[in-house]
Amino acid sequence: MDLIPFLDRKRVARVVATAGTPVYVYDEATLRRQAAAALSFPSAFGLTARYAMKACPNAAILRLFAEAGMAIDASSGYEVARAIRAGVDPARISLSTQELPEDFAEWVRKGVTVNACSLGQLERFGRAFPGGRIGLRINPGLGSGGTTKTNTGGPASSFGIWHELLPQADEIIARHELVVFRIHSHIGSGSDPDVWVRVASMTLSFVEKYASVTHCNLGGGYKVARMPHEKGTDLRVIGTPVKRLFEEFAARTGRRLHLEIEPGTFMVANAGAIVTRIQDIITTGESGYRFLKLDTGMTELARPSLYGAQHPMKVVPANDEGSVRGEAEYIATGHCCESGDMLTPKAGEPETLEPRRLLEARVGDHLVIGGAGAYASAMATINYNSFPQAPEVLLRENGDVVLIRRRQTLDQVLQNEVLPSA
Ligand code: LLP
Repeated sequence: MDLIPFLDRKRVARVVATAGTPVYVYDEATLRRQAAAALSFPSAFGLTARYAMKACPNAAILRLFAEAGMAIDASSGYEVARAIRAGVDPARISLSTQELPEDFAEWVRKGVTVNACSLGQLERFGRAFPGGRIGLRINPGLGSGGTTKTNTGGPASSFGIWHELLPQADEIIARHELVVFRIHSHIGSGSDPDVWVRVASMTLSFVEKYASVTHCNLGGGYKVARMPHEKGTDLRVIGTPVKRLFEEFAARTGRRLHLEIEPGTFMVANAGAIVTRIQDIITTGESGYRFLKLDTGMTELARPSLYGAQHPMKVVPANDEGSVRGEAEYIATGHCCESGDMLTPKAGEPETLEPRRLLEARVGDHLVIGGAGAYASAMATINYNSFPQAPEVLLRENGDVVLIRRRQTLDQVLQNEVLPSA
């Protein structure tokens, strides 16, 4: 089973000829397919599908999703600015952030909507916009994530207004005569679909408390299968019971709620890959391991080191004799001087090595790492060991490879350093 079907040997060669290695590759056909899937999430009374741009914020990707009909979920003032620069209409951007920027009022005047993610943010919004329209991000008390580091609900999570503090939120809302138009919850990434649906129902119970709410945002977090043993979420399967909940809510209250979702991972994870070069192969003896030393690592993909996340890999031979090679087990390691820079961990255990069976590799071959569209380029340890930020290319539907971000130069790495006078 080819885990990275959009990159065959010929395409890898074209990508490398365009941008060298390491390089991120995004497959336009997959991106469009995911946009179509998100936009057909079952809904009873209308849907806004927001791309959670933190997953992969390149302007070419933002524009592709915006043109396909998606709105944007931004997680910082910088992301708001970035989306607007990419051509997104501010009225299509919603901000849910841990750090409400000093200048948030300017964005709101341009049309950006805000979900208050703490009582402090709600107070600041109320002071700036008495009588204004605001969303509330609520921590419903229950979360679910692929790992504890990606769980964003429950008492161990600082995201959103803790559900028991809503009476205090109500006091702030009343004092500033705010209109709560949206309730928002996002319980984690890689959520268990059953928990996700259960939280949808809890979120509706918060909606019920606010007669002014017209929009219910259920966040993102849909699990995708990067590895063959993983199980992805079918949006129709989790969306259908949610649609029913909205219909029941309407029958009971007469309120026809507009649904919002905010997928990040689902949109881009399996649309992206990293093409790397195997620059050395070493062994630690009979009782040790065989290591592929790549020209990439945590500088392009931090998820294995951070979460013990597993990504599919394939060796693409530099010459055409791949068919006569056998297979072997390898540990794929990064190029940073850091033992944690390792790309083949045991699932969920970033510190445990788990050899991967791959086509027998030679120095100069390419190793392609899949599942690397989400939180890869966006969340790498850029410039560690002074490696420059890697370029990004888009694989067009017509087969063309186009550069959408250049490789950083050493001058760019150093450009903000200032030497104190002697
Ligand atoms: N909405 C909000 C408010 C969020 O905080 C997030 C993700 C999303 C939507 C999108 O979630 P997604 O559909 O991508 O699961 N770095 C981790 C994921 C952390 C996501 C943080 N917030 C990873 O590599 O899996």
